[in-house]
Amino acid sequence: MQIDEDKLRSYYAEAPEDISLADVDLARIPHHVSIIMDGNGRWAQARGLDRSEGHVAGVDSLREAVTTSVRLGVDVFSVYAFSTENWRRPQHEVDLLMHLFATTLVAELPLFHQENVKLRFFGDLDALPQETRDVFQQGLDETADHTGMTFALAVNYGSRAEIVKAARELAAEAVRGDIQPQDIDADMLAGHLYTAGLPDPELLIRTSGEQRLSNYLLWQLAYTEFYVTDTYWPDFSRWDYLRAIRDFQGRHRRFGGVVNK
Ligand code: FPP
Repeated sequence: MQIDEDKLRSYYAEAPEDISLADVDLARIPHHVSIIMDGNGRWAQARGLDRSEGHVAGVDSLREAVTTSVRLGVDVFSVYAFSTENWRRPQHEVDLLMHLFATTLVAELPLFHQENVKLRFFGDLDALPQETRDVFQQGLDETADHTGMTFALAVNYGSRAEIVKAARELAAEAVRGDIQPQDIDADMLAGHLYTAGLPDPELLIRTSGEQRLSNYLLWQLAYTEFYVTDTYWPDFSRWDYLRAIRDFQGRHRRFGGVVNK
């Protein structure tokens, strides 16, 4: 994606001591960056606040991460917002998150228009409250013609369920006689995932120190570089994002082959 260097430099002015824009190669920004946003609850508890305050603060971090992704020229930016397992949280927390998703999306539509951001969702949206679904549909409709960065929100998302869904769809096509089982290959299966048509993430960031995938993009992360930071999601800033990219660019990606120096 095209980078506006003037905007990027002013966005990254006033650097802290350990990192600056000069530490990353702008020609090698990952095409798809994905984040498992974690630690909202602990961030709030550490401040004697209700967990919900952590989610509210997490919205500010998300807005900054979207802006950072646009400024850096990332093509696809995706986040894990709500898993199929998250329904097990207390009902009032689930209700708050669903409401927060809806209100945030409406509030951020001007940003998406201004920055030419195209929205996308990963997950089974049918199970969401009507308010949330309506707003998500509005977001999809209003950004359908945008040609800039794709911003994907994984909501009611679970990777195993996604792969099962793809397998069922392929099986149905085979039963109809539209395809032969032996024709099924990785590309065909990938075409039935929520991420169809998007490049796989090159960099996955997880906040709050947890080193788990938590049923997130299991297929798509096959060759992805992981970056785990202890920072809780509400504290994750444009500088943390830059640190992750610096770390990513310092690695040699091998894709199972030999080291490419
Ligand atoms: C993880 O923290 C965070 C979530 C499950 C929800 C993510 C939601 C936001 C960042 C709010 C804004 C999102 C959108 C899409 C508008 P946690 O509650 O698991 O924290 P913990 O591990 O410390 O308990």
